[in-house]
Amino acid sequence: MSRGRSSGSVTARGYRTRQDAGGRYTPRMPPRITAPRGARDLLPEQGEAWTRLEAIARDLSRRYAFDRLDTPLFERVELFARGLGETSDAVEKEMFRVSGAAGSEEERAEWALRPEPTAGIVRAFVEHGMHVRPGPLRVWMLGPMFRYDRPQAGRYRQFTQWDVEVLGDPGPMVDVELVELAHRFYALAGVRGVVAHLNSIGDAECRPRFRRALLDYFGSHEDRLTDDSRRRLRVNPLRVLDDRDLDADLAANAPRSLDHLCHACREHFSTVRSLLDAMGLAYRLDHRLVRGLDYYTRTTFEFFVAGREGQQQALGGGGRYDGLVELLGGRPTPGIGFGIGLDRVLLAGEEQGIPPAVSDPLIVVVSADPGAMVDRLRVASVLREAGLRVRPDGSTRRLGKQLESASKVGAHWAVIVGDELQRDAVVLRDLSTGHQEEVELAGLAEAIGSR
Ligand code: HAM
Repeated sequence: MSRGRSSGSVTARGYRTRQDAGGRYTPRMPPRITAPRGARDLLPEQGEAWTRLEAIARDLSRRYAFDRLDTPLFERVELFARGLGETSDAVEKEMFRVSGAAGSEEERAEWALRPEPTAGIVRAFVEHGMHVRPGPLRVWMLGPMFRYDRPQAGRYRQFTQWDVEVLGDPGPMVDVELVELAHRFYALAGVRGVVAHLNSIGDAECRPRFRRALLDYFGSHEDRLTDDSRRRLRVNPLRVLDDRDLDADLAANAPRSLDHLCHACREHFSTVRSLLDAMGLAYRLDHRLVRGLDYYTRTTFEFFVAGREGQQQALGGGGRYDGLVELLGGRPTPGIGFGIGLDRVLLAGEEQGIPPAVSDPLIVVVSADPGAMVDRLRVASVLREAGLRVRPDGSTRRLGKQLESASKVGAHWAVIVGDELQRDAVVLRDLSTGHQEEVELAGLAEAIGSR
């Protein structure tokens, strides 16, 4: 192995040794450890944009009167198997299983990292008897989800969702309220051209008829199905519609759930549509929108950047799940919610050239006196007390060097702590112009704020 001027080799234990140009061996370097595939580091330069998305999610949760509910990052495998369906991809193929310590009761993998938040939230709803609270219950959550999927652009094994759920509201008004909320989120995030796809997949009464129609139709065209679809046909025929490799003609002529809705589901969906129209919220009917998780009933929706639908890059999705609470052992309670993938929203923003979020102006506190550590900390503390963004330079380098690095890290101001402190003053330097003047400590924050 050779790298530039030095060469090296890998020892039996995987440690790299390096030989420099003079033939000397430098100390062994342990092999580098990288992030797991499909998981990303949020780097400092992305931090501001990410914090902004989180802030929008928190602010909208408040404005739409949702209360915060957090559940554990891991839950019993059984919860997801029952809630999302044994044959959903999230359970069958993508579960991150977690086992207990060796020798413990849970040594065998009994838990899984949550692939999505809805099942956990409903579990908490049932476990804490929340049905007795004056309803409907409106909750939000923001946090990481885990799916052992094939990593690619916009598809990660760890990703973050902003999730909202409403339990105990049969709709249809709340269905529209959620679609409007998601649109507002994308608008505030600055992502342009987001379209809502909409469908209704019926309920326990009419779904069996639709299922039967799909079985008959795809069953008579089995030779044109992919292997995956043939399997889906046996376990859950709705999910054949979800197969992106489905023959286009076959898909176009497939039975549509809207043609099989019972009276109540048809009424519900028709009101959802007229409310959306009245609110001026555009949507596209999408007959293939059956969603990948089994708990859905009636209204389903997904959000895409127009023209990017084919790449399975939904920016968010959700729908109604009127049977889930009961399935998880609670009293029959209707539910609806959505999850928005913040990673994909960030990516969409970057692709659309949204200017990067800017941080507040930075102030660096410097001093020519290497001993003036306490003074630098005190001055920084005064400015922080006033809400400003401050970083003291703790080095003993020359003042010029400290000012140079302050400019390099993008600081707007340098506060120079020197002899003036004896009369409760410092020197304030504008790093873009080089202009500096003495300012009283008591009025320093105000002086910076006013410029
Ligand atoms: P989901 O459609 O599976 O729904 O995920 C919601 C959103 O999470 C997706 O639209 C996407 O933005 C993001 N997402 C999903 N998988 C990944 C991934 N591997 N990498 C990056 N982003 C991803 C749910 O999870 C439901 N719990 C939503 C819901 C809430 N339905 C009712 N209430």
